[in-house]
Amino acid sequence: MSNNTNSPSRIVLTGLSGTGKTTVGRIIAKRLGWRFYDTDIGVVKRANKPIEAVFADDGEAAFRALEHNALWRVTREKECVIAMGGGAILSPQNRAYLVEDCLLVCLDAKVDAMWQRLESSAVKRPLVAGADSLSRIRDLQAFRHPFYNLADVIVPTDDRSPEDIADDVIRAWEESSFACAVRVPGGSHHITAGWGVLDDLGTLLKAEGLKGAAYVISDSSVYPLYGDRALQALRKAGFEADAYVIPAGEANKTLETAAKVYDWLVSRRAERRHAIVALGGGVVTDLAGFIAATFLRGVPLVHVPTSLLSMVDAAVGGKTAVDHREGKNIVGAFYQPKLVVADVSVLQSLPKRELISGWAEVIKHAFITDEELLELLETRSGDISRIDPDITTQVIRRSIALKAAVVSEDEREETGRRTILNYGHTIGHAIEAAGAFTQLLHGEAVAIGMMGAAEIGRRLDITSPELVERQRSLIESYGLPTRATGVDKERVMAAMALDKKVSDRAINWVLLEDTGKTVLNNAVPASVVQDVVDGLLQ
Ligand SMILES: NC(=O)c1ccc[n+]([C@@H]2O[C@H](COP(=O)([O-])OP(=O)(O)OC[C@H]3O[C@@H](n4cnc5c(N)ncnc54)[C@H](O)[C@@H]3O)[C@@H](O)[C@H]2O)c1
Ligand SMILES: [Zn+2]
Repeated sequence: MSNNTNSPSRIVLTGLSGTGKTTVGRIIAKRLGWRFYDTDIGVVKRANKPIEAVFADDGEAAFRALEHNALWRVTREKECVIAMGGGAILSPQNRAYLVEDCLLVCLDAKVDAMWQRLESSAVKRPLVAGADSLSRIRDLQAFRHPFYNLADVIVPTDDRSPEDIADDVIRAWEESSFACAVRVPGGSHHITAGWGVLDDLGTLLKAEGLKGAAYVISDSSVYPLYGDRALQALRKAGFEADAYVIPAGEANKTLETAAKVYDWLVSRRAERRHAIVALGGGVVTDLAGFIAATFLRGVPLVHVPTSLLSMVDAAVGGKTAVDHREGKNIVGAFYQPKLVVADVSVLQSLPKRELISGWAEVIKHAFITDEELLELLETRSGDISRIDPDITTQVIRRSIALKAAVVSEDEREETGRRTILNYGHTIGHAIEAAGAFTQLLHGEAVAIGMMGAAEIGRRLDITSPELVERQRSLIESYGLPTRATGVDKERVMAAMALDKKVSDRAINWVLLEDTGKTVLNNAVPASVVQDVVDGLLQ
């Protein structure tokens, strides 16, 4: 029955206890011929006692840890339905497991109906134990509402049979075809990454509930290549679509350019419900994202990243900004898009050096989080670099999902999780800045910076020499540099001191313990850094 190859291969059910997740989940699994898991059952098995006993004997924290573990154990499973405990969605770490290839469904019920169901059920749930249980459920639902809203679909369950509810879920599953989702309080959204999906742009916007007008912002290199296709796709789906084209290049990522776009939007009488569509590389997605965040205090934003860097990095995570003459990305906002559409086929026209530069972030994602992606990058480098429709799409999807997971865990760089994405960036940024952003592209500098971080790790006995060499040979096989020539060392050191990631005067280094395992270290001796930078600049 799983005939829709684009649909996610996992369905996860969330919602308050008493909404029928287990019953409905079993029915869906049976109909699709999939396996069924229930995190509550996982907890009971592991703890070897009922959930109430886990709560009573060991406390809620112990329960949450067991629940997290139960979810983790099924994260790599395909073709399965997972019923999650009602509170599991509150944990950012759990949410990071619900990002890739996964339809998240919330079963919703009116509080009174749910209370009655729980009260009359043979098995007494903790939720209805004791007095005042109705108002407790009310409070709980109000508190959890924003988290349940992170779901892709919300299915009402009142006065409906489990079979009916299962029908709804399966229908929603058949209609969904996104590669992954960012699940954050600031705005959950889908990311579609595929070959030729630019022509589906209008349909995809519509599926997210957008309508009316769409204002495309693009640049002078991208617009002549893909502008018409984007506008046509939007118009075909009933949007009034128009475009504003900025000159290509980082020099135009400024407030001055933004001001011109505001003028244009005002002259077009753009409204608050109309969407801004960013069609271009990271310069366009950062600028258009900033405009969408600020115009009319925020209008819907759709990213259509066209460079490799913007697909796997800039368009994912909600950071938007423009540059100031004193520095890059000085003025900006966190602002999540409603949707990201990455058409891998457009990479065929990306200038070779830009493409190669983009691989640095993909390689970074692989080393910091994913051995499997790393092996794929190593064994299929030829096909991947040539932009093979299948394998390159697969790699880009995976890389996007890894960033989406990290962002879902730490939307605003508050818990430290998002910091791991800075791997290679401390020295990388400094090298970029020392060359006044003209000698090296971002990815080239990051590749060199990753070699620096690996070498620092090796000197501190954190990174093995084998891992350093593995990283070197992968970076080289994608045509990226591992050292810089003609960059002034003093300027690199000065730029590093200025780096915005400086905390308490000490730089917080992201180092690699193993593939998929980073550590933060703010006590790297200055002499080691000096020496390593020396080695990189020879
Ligand atoms: N917001 C974030 O989290 C984040 C993360 C990383 C980088 N960034 C920002 O991204 C920017 C760099 O992004 P970038 O490397 O994409 O630069 P870019 O947008 O300047 O694109 C590079 C060049 O390629 C062209 N181009 C893009 N797609 C093309 C295609 N398919 N075919 C032909 N030409 C194409 C562009 O017109 C441009 O000339 C920087 O401003 C950086 O600060 C932001
Ligand atoms: Zn980067």
